[in-house]
Amino acid sequence: MTGFSTLQIRAGAQPPVQPNPAVVPIYQTAAYEFESWEAARDIFALRRQGNLYSRTGNPTQSVLEQRIAALDGGVGALAVASGQAAVVIALLALARNGEHVVAARQLYGGTLDLLTDTFADFGIDVTLVDQGDLDAWRGAVRPNTRAFFAETIGNPTATVLDVRGVADVAHAAGVPLIVDNTVATPALLRPVEHGADLVVYSATKYLAGHGGSLGGLIVDLGTFDFGAGDFGAGGTARRWPQFTEPYPRVGDVVLWDRFGREGSAFLVYAKTKLAHDLGPALSPFNAHQILLGIETLDLRIARQTASAEAIARALDAHPGVSAVHHPAAQGSPHAALAARYLPGGASAVFSFDLAAGPEAVPGFVDALEHFTLAANIGDARSLVIHPASTTHSHLRDDDLALEGFSRATVRLSIGLEDPADLIDDLLRALDGVALASREPVAAGRSSTTPAPFEES
Ligand SMILES: Cc1ncc(COP(=O)(O)O)c(C=O)c1O
Repeated sequence: MTGFSTLQIRAGAQPPVQPNPAVVPIYQTAAYEFESWEAARDIFALRRQGNLYSRTGNPTQSVLEQRIAALDGGVGALAVASGQAAVVIALLALARNGEHVVAARQLYGGTLDLLTDTFADFGIDVTLVDQGDLDAWRGAVRPNTRAFFAETIGNPTATVLDVRGVADVAHAAGVPLIVDNTVATPALLRPVEHGADLVVYSATKYLAGHGGSLGGLIVDLGTFDFGAGDFGAGGTARRWPQFTEPYPRVGDVVLWDRFGREGSAFLVYAKTKLAHDLGPALSPFNAHQILLGIETLDLRIARQTASAEAIARALDAHPGVSAVHHPAAQGSPHAALAARYLPGGASAVFSFDLAAGPEAVPGFVDALEHFTLAANIGDARSLVIHPASTTHSHLRDDDLALEGFSRATVRLSIGLEDPADLIDDLLRALDGVALASREPVAAGRSSTTPAPFEES
């Protein structure tokens, strides 16, 4: 079998083009010339493969799709403009108005907004459960449930999903498990090996690896049988009519009969309906940047993961830190799951709590020199953010607690710099906080600066 490092550089058929570029070119075109009237008709009717219009596909994007499908061991993939678009399209392909999704509550803030706010506008019900509580997943299932959703490594607290446990509950309920594998990437965890059915990525993060381009990917692992158990509770209503009933968009073809698992009826529907109608196309330039990033994925992930673990241990030993949310921290509740699912390490996004409390956060963050204060992860440079005032700023204290963190929590995304420099920087900023908290003035802020956490 071809190795991971070889696939990350070579997988994906390059379209034949003179003068044979060695690197995948950027096909900067909105449309494609059809060779004849008949070819145009057949490509539109999905009777013939071919490029149509760049909202639903582009040759640079197509190489990226084939490459991620190869790395994940899937049957196909769809690339879109952002990770957020990947999550939306994957879920909307399965759950429609009046239907229901069960999701982990330990999720990236943007995904939580989508599930709890915008999906309510769309008439899609979502139940959030503690991702480690398999009984809660089981108990949340309803006759109209259409998907389970969770992150393999949670952002921001590096929670580790029991992928097999949740997949088994999903399958017993007759629905697929979608995992967001953005933080782990296929270099650390291949969801197909643990029972997941669909994978989504923010390619903006580790896959690209440079923080320069947004992108999202959906991979169909080809494991879920949308044709079996098609009838829902009561035996009357079809559970997946979008795949098993005639599809009026394309000559009343039944997608499951024509494409099945191997041809990914799921992705054909996601592309011809949702990508086509909603329009979140990936630009060819961004597809190219993400492809270049993927070529070094395993090397970067190994380096960043090792650095993050060393930094987590250094923070864990510091009296200025009251908790480190990383599986390598002393007494981490995620150590056993990390040992099972992440033998290569738990990636490089984690968070920790300042012992001096939320008032110390501004002084600490502003004192860092080697960490860029930015709302991103998976970049080559190390990043810091305070989730409670940014990515999760609209959550109440009790919601934050349910997610496993607080207003004193700081998130790090460890980059490719020298880990000794990063540790020095963090420890120096922590020492500054400790000094400030011994001074009579309120810690971390001057008497003229308004307290950032005192609004209701
Ligand atoms: C785990 C995870 N999933 C999805 C997203 C959304 O991706 P994007 O910013 O590319 O839309 C993010 C963004 O931070 C993320 O961290």
